[in-house]
Amino acid sequence: MSAYGHQMEQQYSAHSLSSRGSGRRQSSYVMDSGFYMSSFASTIFIGALVTVGVILITLLIALTVMLQSCQSRSHGVIEIEKPSYDYNYCQIISLHVELNKVEADHFPSICRVVALQYIKEGQYARDLNSTVWMIQNYFSTLKRDGVDVVLMDIDDVLSSSPQYIKLLVDRDDQYGSSDCVEEAKQLKHVYILRLYMKLHASGWPLILLSRKPETQLNSSIEYLISAGFRAWSSLIMRR
Ligand SMILES: *[C@@H]1O[C@H](CO)[C@@H](O)[C@H](O)[C@H]1NC(C)=O
Ligand SMILES: *[C@@H]1O[C@H](CO)[C@@H](O)[C@H](O)[C@H]1NC(C)=O
Repeated sequence: MSAYGHQMEQQYSAHSLSSRGSGRRQSSYVMDSGFYMSSFASTIFIGALVTVGVILITLLIALTVMLQSCQSRSHGVIEIEKPSYDYNYCQIISLHVELNKVEADHFPSICRVVALQYIKEGQYARDLNSTVWMIQNYFSTLKRDGVDVVLMDIDDVLSSSPQYIKLLVDRDDQYGSSDCVEEAKQLKHVYILRLYMKLHASGWPLILLSRKPETQLNSSIEYLISAGFRAWSSLIMRR
């Protein structure tokens, strides 16, 4: 029994030893596997670092691009706002030119630049077209009762060089302004004549008004006919 017990004890201790040994081997395996794990983890960690780095660089690039586009947009705002400020200022001046007499000396040179730009960029032609279109629309909606007439100021047509053209064309013509202004004048004549013809064709009696003295009546009539204006009801000039 004791021998058996001893054997059992030996077996047990052997088992326990072996189990301890296997336990130690297992722990070393765990340690080994822990090492692999940590290598894997470090790979993940480095991978994560690289990913974070890439994300950071992407963010940085995105931010830089956004900042640049923002900067260029704000540049654009400055570039757009400046002429629009000049444009508004010159619109007031142009109203002043229409209502009062403005001498060339008092006409700001920036407005000459703005006005020429307005013509050259085609905005003048577009505005002229839409204005004439609106006038035609207005008259086409009116119900006539037989006594209505249309009064037309023709000084712009009669005068070969109205005040605003004198203001626009520079004395030394450094912007090539005279060609541009001449073209705009031709365009305006075309539109006014077209409007005149349309109104005449729809049966409106047309009364032409001018601030020019009556002494110029004959030459004015000649000029109007040569410019294509026909069959007006009357031409009223200053006495
Ligand atoms: C003139 O204006 C009308 C109405 O806005 C438009 O339909 C037409 O295309 C314009 N013509 C030109 C030459 O701009
Ligand atoms: C205008 O022409 C008519 C003849 O057509 C003439 O009798 C008149 O004197 C002229 N008037 C002026 C101001 O030249």
